[in-house]
Amino acid sequence: MTALTIALSKGRILDEALPLLASAGIVPTEDPETSRKLFLPTSRPRVSIVLVRASDVPTYVQWGAADLGVAGKDVLLEHGGQGLYQPVDLGIARCRMSVATRRGYDWEGTVQRGARIRVATKYVSIAREHFAAKGMHVDLIKLYGSMELAPLSGLADAIVDLVSTGNTLKANDLVEVETIMPITSRLIANPAALKLKRDAVKPLVDALAAASASNRAGP
Ligand code: ATP
Ligand code: PRP
Repeated sequence: MTALTIALSKGRILDEALPLLASAGIVPTEDPETSRKLFLPTSRPRVSIVLVRASDVPTYVQWGAADLGVAGKDVLLEHGGQGLYQPVDLGIARCRMSVATRRGYDWEGTVQRGARIRVATKYVSIAREHFAAKGMHVDLIKLYGSMELAPLSGLADAIVDLVSTGNTLKANDLVEVETIMPITSRLIANPAALKLKRDAVKPLVDALAAASASNRAGP
């Protein structure tokens, strides 16, 4: 039987992908959250899970070190998506990419005046494209985390970050001023694996599409 490797990241993607994999008959033989192993065998012989950083998942799949993976649309847009197929929107890790400022900051006025603004973000490509499409002049400041601190410390006027419940913004006295796009996580596949390991990959892609169908159903 063909060997298959699936790249996942610990945390919300793993939490939400494991039930989908279970319905496709794939269950890790050790608890991934407590195991120190990064390469986990599963109940399905020759199917393994590799645990990598969320932003590294596309790289593992692009280079064929993993055949399949699960990555957020944010991560895929920042990566560029070269050398990847995205066969299924799994509808998990649902959130949105937004622009936020300090409460009381006159975002509308600043935009209307055409003033140059500073925006801090981990998502530089998404932010660049969004503001360019609006014809806005922004200086982008790349951060790797704790974006909320940027407007509070005076580093930037606004941030581009992921929002789900809005609790993180609220806790830091920030408000969402624009929604850029909805975000979900997608199943990604190495194109060569899709062809050369089709007998193993195709049934799994179909099973994951079926298991996640209710996540994509409209309101
Ligand atoms: P890395 O470790 O590579 O820096 P990360 O810390 O962003 O990545 P996670 O926090 O596990 O990794 O997020 C994984 C994915 O889950 C993100 O790429 C995004 O698509 C989605 N996500 C992030 N934050 C939320 C949230 N608050 N609610 C729902 N989904 C989210
Ligand atoms: C994400 C994101 C926000 C938060 C938004 O952070 O960067 O800070 O979730 O979620 P909320 O609107 O429900 O509060 P995460 O929890 O992944 O922390 P991390 O980026 O530091 O891993």
